[in-house]
Amino acid sequence: MFHTLICDMLGIEVPILQGAMQGAGGPRLAAAVSEAGGLGILHTFGDTLDDLRRDIHETRALTRKPIAVNITPMGKAFTRSRAELCIEENIPIVTTGRADPGESAVRMLKDAGIIVIPVVPSVEHAKRVEAEGVDAIIASGCEAGGHVGNVASLPLIPQVVDAVKVPVLAAGGIADGRGFLAALALGAVGVQIGTRFVATPESDAGRSYRAALLEARETDTIVSDSMTGAPVRAITTPQIIAYEKAKNSGATAAELKAMRQAVRAGGAKGPAGQNTGMIHDIQPAAELMHQILSDAQTYSRRIVTLANS
Ligand SMILES: Cc1cc2nc3c(=O)[nH]c(=O)nc-3n(C[C@H](O)[C@H](O)[C@H](O)COP(=O)(O)O)c2cc1C
Repeated sequence: MFHTLICDMLGIEVPILQGAMQGAGGPRLAAAVSEAGGLGILHTFGDTLDDLRRDIHETRALTRKPIAVNITPMGKAFTRSRAELCIEENIPIVTTGRADPGESAVRMLKDAGIIVIPVVPSVEHAKRVEAEGVDAIIASGCEAGGHVGNVASLPLIPQVVDAVKVPVLAAGGIADGRGFLAALALGAVGVQIGTRFVATPESDAGRSYRAALLEARETDTIVSDSMTGAPVRAITTPQIIAYEKAKNSGATAAELKAMRQAVRAGGAKGPAGQNTGMIHDIQPAAELMHQILSDAQTYSRRIVTLANS
């Protein structure tokens, strides 16, 4: 079902990538998604090299299918050391998040035969990484969980598709068959899903984070730099609201620093996208993927019927 060119490029069966997720996406989830025919992606954000090596080995003990590593470029040394480990461990695919990986990191990975796919929030960023020689691009709208830009998926994806020659995948707001199909209609060759995969038994999310996700409505997320220093969409908490209010009313750097610590020390429930309101249950990753694809088939038939009516 929905076999696209990204499936051939990545050696996967269905065009669904599990977005890297610090705090939620560990070896069990990555392996479950890869085993189900998609692409499981391990995160590196906040991890040591030993953590990453252990996660790669644990994932490989659970699946022989392709897996990927996401490198969040946090300085040249961080990026280089993670890229070196990916090469050493024969990781076939690397995605990057939040910032531009930089031409030298892209070249280093490509020279080692690794497929490189950055996540981008804008057309300008997409053009820049294409010029650096990447293989495909994930365009992520600001409704996504985690680090975000400020353009929503519906306008972003077709504009990126039109601006670059490499294949484009869509991320941000996709949680079911309708979102999957919409992404293909916008010109994407596949999707990256984050938030919806948090609500699976295989995710590493803690009990309170999962409960908050199941309860949250579409209006219950907020974009704030209080968690990592860059804009992150997460479930709204009183601490994050207090931080944003203080920032907008001229609080001092020291006051804001203390408030950021409060957010991190328990005021953050976790990153989540605006599709939280569509998540009502904990569903195994493979079952969820199957449901997304079969629902997308049903909806596509309905659209064809409508188009011919
Ligand atoms: C809990 C959580 C943690 C995330 N951590 C990372 C990360 O470490 N690196 C990264 O590139 N993206 C990260 N993201 C973004 C996802 O990989 C993915 O692109 C995004 O969730 C897609 O949008 P969606 O949440 O609407 O499905 C995270 C997202 C969530 C929800």
